[in-house]
Amino acid sequence: MKDHLTRRGFIRTAAASSAALTWLTARHAPTVFAADAGKPALLGGAPVHTGSWLSWPQWRKEWEPAMVDVYRSCKWFRGSGNNVTDFEDGYAKLIGAKKCLATASGTTALMVSLHTMGVDAGDEVICSPYTFIATYNSVLALKALPVFADTDPATLNIDPATIESRITERTRAILPVHIFGMPCDMDPIIAIAKKRNLVVVEDACQAWLAEYKGHKCGAIGELGCFSFQESKHIPSGEGGAITSMSEALIDKCNSFHNCGRAAGTNQGKGSFTRGLNFRMTQAQAVLLMQQFEKLQKETEVRRANADYLSANLKQIPGITPVRLPENSRAVWHLYSFRYDAREFNGLSRDKFMDALTAEGVPCSSVYREQYFDGLLDEAIASRGYQRLWSAERLKAYRASLNDLKGNKQVCETAVAMTQNMLLADRAGIDHIIEAVRRIHTHSAALAKA
Ligand SMILES: Cc1ncc(COP(=O)(O)O)c(C=O)c1O
Repeated sequence: MKDHLTRRGFIRTAAASSAALTWLTARHAPTVFAADAGKPALLGGAPVHTGSWLSWPQWRKEWEPAMVDVYRSCKWFRGSGNNVTDFEDGYAKLIGAKKCLATASGTTALMVSLHTMGVDAGDEVICSPYTFIATYNSVLALKALPVFADTDPATLNIDPATIESRITERTRAILPVHIFGMPCDMDPIIAIAKKRNLVVVEDACQAWLAEYKGHKCGAIGELGCFSFQESKHIPSGEGGAITSMSEALIDKCNSFHNCGRAAGTNQGKGSFTRGLNFRMTQAQAVLLMQQFEKLQKETEVRRANADYLSANLKQIPGITPVRLPENSRAVWHLYSFRYDAREFNGLSRDKFMDALTAEGVPCSSVYREQYFDGLLDEAIASRGYQRLWSAERLKAYRASLNDLKGNKQVCETAVAMTQNMLLADRAGIDHIIEAVRRIHTHSAALAKA
């Protein structure tokens, strides 16, 4: 009854036209809504969605025997069992990479990868500004400078056309981020790297199973980095991985992540190489391995629901779903669109998000222009950075943060929902569409409220 009432006022046409159509096959069918959508919840109406969304992370009873076994075995450390290496073999297979190294986190995967690719104190790394802060921090941890290319507002990812102008004689690597699990346009990035003799490390920390032109993200650049932190599609509390088509590179990563010990093809005597401890534990690996199939199945559901959302939301003036590169498939760690307040009678993005949240559809603006938050000012004011770069370079670097016009636009207009919402049933996904439509219909009144 509640469902009937809250969904009153919109007519699903194409999707309803054939009862035989399954949810998955009907995903591209556009939805048409009647104009008399109910009153917005912020103005006293009943919320469109009153149920809860899937909580995350999830536990499965059937995982318990293997988890208990690994703890009872008292073989918890990477070196005392085979679970971590089994996980690495399985994950490499999933990504279509030659080899994988498990790590303690996505951040450490990035640090190990950048170090292994030769990024050193005083080097510069071109990266995406629109990302989780760990991308910046992994570069800063190596006393290198994260130099930001601009964000393409249509894709939310690095705009390859803005990379070359940022390259200096210090540039060593390009670090594209497949944000929200949406692949970057890798062909031009790889072409620039080849032409300018740079390496490419993919930040695929949100992009497990995302695909670009027949390749999985994380198996395109020299090294690819993943996170298994608790919010992720395949979580183990903390955890990470590095994948590559090069066995030798993964062996070098292995040495660095394991206190500088020899690994595979990376052999030497004594303390022949530097290293830290960024190892994954046996229990993390067991938890992760049990989620391989779940990850694959849920990825397809998220894709179907995201396609359906995009097909419907793009019909609402002022809502622009994200554009993916040709021949690519996203995995939607967040589902995002750009919001144009002009098409909503000047209703600000903050008020739009408040109204959507009041309808039972939680959403957020995700990343700010975090390069102004202070961490970069702190870094460039530090003794180390002042020794490593000239005052002119650091001044120009600081000033260049104001040039990120595309990123600024994205930070001001993006609205995103979390991945667990994409695992809802058809009614739940329709509620998202109905809620946005309702806000659009009543935007003038909401803007005045
Ligand atoms: C794009 C991106 N890069 C790096 C990381 C760092 O991963 P972790 O939190 O596992 O260290 C994350 C994690 O959220 C991320 O989303």
